[in-house]
This record gives sequence, structure tokens and C-alpha cells, in this order.
Amino acid sequence: MINLPLVCWKAFTLFWVYIHKPEADVNLALIVAGLVFLLLVSLRLLHWMEQTGAWLAALIRMLGALLVAAIAVSGVFTLVFGIAVWFGGREAPPEYAEVIQALYKSLIHPAVTGAIAGLIAGMVAVFYLTRYTIPHFATMLARGTRKSHDEELTDARTVSDLLPESVHYDPRRYFDSCQRRGEVFVGLERSKKSVTVSVQRALQSHLQLVGPTGSGKGVAGQTLLSQAIRRGEAVIVFDPKVDGDKWLPSVLYSECKAAGTPFRFINLCTELPQFNLLKDATGREIIQLLTTGLRLGRRGSEADFYRLAERAFAKRGAQGEFGIPTSIPALADALREAAGDDAEKLRGLLDQIDELADIPAIQTDEGVGLDAVLEQGGVLYIAGSDADEDILLLQPMIVLRLIQLIRRRERDTGRHVTMFLDEVKYLLSVPVINSLGLIRDRGCSLILAHQALEDLVCIDADRATTEGAVRINCTLRLCYRQTDPRTVQWIEEQTGKILVNAESREISRNPALSEVPHEVRRVQQVQRAKIDANMIQQLPDGCGVLIGAGASKLVFTSPIRVERLKFTPGAANKISRRGVETLLREDDGSKTVGLDGLSP
Ligand SMILES: Nc1ncnc2c1ncn2[C@@H]1O[C@H](COP(=O)(O)OP(=O)(O)OP(=O)(O)O)[C@@H](O)[C@H]1O
Ligand SMILES: [Mg+2]
Repeated sequence: MINLPLVCWKAFTLFWVYIHKPEADVNLALIVAGLVFLLLVSLRLLHWMEQTGAWLAALIRMLGALLVAAIAVSGVFTLVFGIAVWFGGREAPPEYAEVIQALYKSLIHPAVTGAIAGLIAGMVAVFYLTRYTIPHFATMLARGTRKSHDEELTDARTVSDLLPESVHYDPRRYFDSCQRRGEVFVGLERSKKSVTVSVQRALQSHLQLVGPTGSGKGVAGQTLLSQAIRRGEAVIVFDPKVDGDKWLPSVLYSECKAAGTPFRFINLCTELPQFNLLKDATGREIIQLLTTGLRLGRRGSEADFYRLAERAFAKRGAQGEFGIPTSIPALADALREAAGDDAEKLRGLLDQIDELADIPAIQTDEGVGLDAVLEQGGVLYIAGSDADEDILLLQPMIVLRLIQLIRRRERDTGRHVTMFLDEVKYLLSVPVINSLGLIRDRGCSLILAHQALEDLVCIDADRATTEGAVRINCTLRLCYRQTDPRTVQWIEEQTGKILVNAESREISRNPALSEVPHEVRRVQQVQRAKIDANMIQQLPDGCGVLIGAGASKLVFTSPIRVERLKFTPGAANKISRRGVETLLREDDGSKTVGLDGLSP
């Protein structure tokens, strides 16, 4: 059994000895101040933690409760002990009573001082906690809480956490299995599941590829065009980059080699004569080419008067009145000769057609037949320019010429043609966009690549017309990360709506004038775009939004890795211009090399 009086006596004598030490007053004051301080802070924290359900809060609550209990126990113990001694002292002999009273007097001063100091420090700490620490901690708790749904309204600051990481793979691994199932492989989902479109759907629709430079339009082209080659289609690529894209020609060349189909390369920027734009063209086709390429149509301005005269003259030339127009240089020479005294009036037309005729790539009446690819399949790759004025004039004419050749075909006959038009703003013209529906019927599907909606223009029509035609005729779209606000909004609108949880919380103002969110969150369902503007702006590399094949989804495209090759077009026989200046220009070393197709 514990001898309680003896224990108390021993404790008292220890205390007695201690209390007579010189530093006892200060220590006592500090102990009392500390206890009061801790008591206040603990009570404040406990009060806040009352409604909090998080485990961290529960832990703190438990520690706080323990602390309060400890302080309370020691406080009660001290009080009981003090009362016992005080009452006991009254029964003691007088000299003891005086000593005990003296002791109380010497204790009371440091105890009161300590209590006041602890109270002040505690109140300051409670104010600081209430104004800064608790609101901060409450926000952290709210952020760290795992929500019951991951579909929620997005926040531009945190949306990247919701988006998947880039996926790298070799697309060729998926081509054969997809082809066997009658599907076209587009890319992989976040879960590595392949995303496909049925071949029938792909052939029935034009596809729009939208994304800024370097976003992956060329990579998507590699995947889609490689599969077209494997299906035995005719693939035509227009690439207005000088000398062609860095990778696409190499990828398509290696696919052609594997499939045993021809790969034809035309470079509009070299000095080599390579093809004849007017080969087998009828008078009507030539006049359409000239009207579009040289902008001879009506535009509702004063210049129409001259333009119409020029068009009438060009028409006569196209119909063979001044000699058979076998090629652009031949037509240019014939027109200039026939103009005679009217040359000054027709100067606009003659100069423009001269500029065209001076492009070395078309100074031949043989070379690569634009129609050959339609018959034999394989690839026709045309590298152009996004800067050279003459080439900019020629490029839309080549596209139009190919469309004319496709329009000639009977419905449902001939090989399917997949035509990839990179940077459409340099390539489209009104007759081409007007033919979008018809050529689909004639077995041609286009892949139209451009950077943003602003680039959706024709050389001879306003943006609204072009955008409308493309919008209606392209029912499949693959859109990469985008920053242009109008384009972002346009993509967002097409991804469809989903219901998500929108959170609402009550916020109250605490006594220290800080706002603290309540623990309870209310959730209500609201509509959000399936892939919204925040996501579109922060899509990871190689990730696009596929629209038009079921519900819109995120798709990862990955490049087809091949050895990079440099391509030189085969040269055809050069035809000489009859004009004096051009004859002089011709002398500077133009070679006549037999057409050998390709030399990588
Ligand atoms: N076959 C390949 N092998 C390795 N890297 C590739 C291959 N094809 C593309 N890339 C890389 O992938 C990235 C995207 O290129 P891509 O050609 O698709 O861009 P883009 O959207 O077509 O832009 P641009 O307007 O410049 O043509 C680039 O960094 C490019 O170097
Ligand atoms: Mg590209």
C-alpha cells in the first residue's frame, strides 16, 4: 500500500527546498504562463476541430484532448494539494502556520504574473491561429480530400493533373490487326486501348487535322497515310514546306517500299522540270485552272472590267485558238504571241502566266503524270513552298488539277484516293471546296491540316465560306493542343456535354475576420463540355481530341520511326520558252536528265 501522507510530505519537502532556491520565482512564473498559454491554444484548436472529420484533424483533436486532460489533472492536483496544505497548516503549531503563510505569499506573486503573461501570449496565439493558421489549414484539408467523383469542373491551374501522360509506341504494331477487322487505327487511348474508325467511315468522310506547328499533324498523317498505302489506295500529299516535311516523305517511302508500290516525289522549288500541269487537260479544265489560279473571276471591284477581258482572252487560248496548250509554258508563249498590240491591255494576265511558266518544275510536257498515281496507286508527294510567290500561285492549281482528274472518274470506280493537304491556306480554292461532296462520291477522301480556324481560308474566297464548306464536309476531326481562343472554343463545343459534380461550400467569417470554408461540401450536377477549354489548352504532346467517331475522346498518336532520307525528284525533258528573256535565262546550265522517278 502506498503511504499517501508520506508521499505528500516528501513532495512537499522537495517543493519546500525548491521554493527557497533563488531561480524558483522565475521558473514558477514560466510554468504557470506556459500552462495557461497551452490551455488557451488547445481550447481554440479543439473548438475548430469539433466539426472536422478528416483523420488528421481527428489526430490533432486527440492530442489536444490529452493535453487539456493533463493540464486539468495537474491543475486539480496542485489545487487539492494547496488546499490540503493550507487547511492542514491552520491546525499546525503557530510557527508552522506562519511559515506556510509566508510560503503562500511568496508563491502568489510569480503565479499571478505567470498567469497574466500566459493569458496575453495565449490570446495573441489564439488570434494568430484564428486569422491565419486555421483558414490555411482548412484550405489544405479541403484540397487534400479525395473527392467522391473525378469528373468535376476543371481549373486551369490543376487541369494538367487530370490529363494523361504522353504515350510512346510504334503505330505499325496495330495496323495489320485493325486492317483485318476493317478498321483504321488512329491512336491509343490513355488505357493503351486502340482507337479506331471503320474503314468505310474513314473513306466516306474528309478529315480535319487541327493543331499548331509541331503539335503532331504530320505524325497523324504518317499513321493514316501508311494504312492507306497498305490498303492499296492512291496517296497524294501536298506539303507546302520547302523540300518537304522532315519525316513524312521518309515514312511514306518506307511504307511504299514494303508494299511494293511506287513513290513519286515532286519538289516545286528545284530547278528540275518534273511534270506537266496541263497533261490531258480539256479546254474547260484549263480555263478553270487559270481562272482560279490567276484569280480571273469576278470579285465585284473595278478591276473586274480588265479581269473579264483577260479571262475571255485566256479562254480563247485554253480552247486552242492560238495553238494547242500542251503545257503552261506553251500556253504562255502562245498567249503572248497572240496578244500582239493588245499586250499592254492584257499585261496582268500575260505577266502572271509568264511567272507560272518560268517555274522550272512545270517546264516539261512529260514527267510524272498526275493521273498515274490514281491508276497505279502508291504515293505522289509534292513539296512546295510557303514563301515563294510563284509557287504559291501554282500550288492551288495543282490541287485543282488533281481534283479535276478525280471528278472525271465514274462513281464507285477506280482506286480510292487519300489526299493529304498540309497547310490548307496555301492550297484550297473555291472549285476545290465546292467539290468536297462530289469527290467523296468519286472515291477521294481529303485530310485537311491547318493550325487554327483563322487558317481555314481559300485563295479566292473569304474565311466564312471556306469554314462553312469544311465544317459540313469534314465529319471527322483530330484536334491537338490549341491556344487560339476561337479555335479552342470551337473544338470544345464539338466534344459534347457531360454532367459533372459542381461543389459548393459555405464560407463563414471567423472572429479574427478570416474566411474559413465549412467542412460540409454540397454537390450539384452541372453540364460541362466533355473535353473542355482548359483541357484543350493543356493537352500533352501527341495527344489529340478525336471528334466524329462516337463520343469525343483523347487519342495519343506516335511517330513511325524510320531512317531519314533526302529526296531528289527525277528530271524530265525541259521544254524551251519562245520568249527572248526566258531563252536567255534558260542558258544558265539547265540539264536534261531522264526521268528516273526517285533517288533518295
Ligand atoms: N517519324 C518521326 N520520327 C521521329 N520524330 C518525329 C517523326 N515524325 C514527327 N516527329 C516529331 O514529332 C513532332 C511533331 O511533328 P509533326 O510533323 O507532326 O508536327 P506538325 O503538327 O505537322 O507541325 P508542322 O506545322 O511543323 O508541320 C516533331 O517534334 C517532330 O520532329
Ligand atoms: Mg506538319
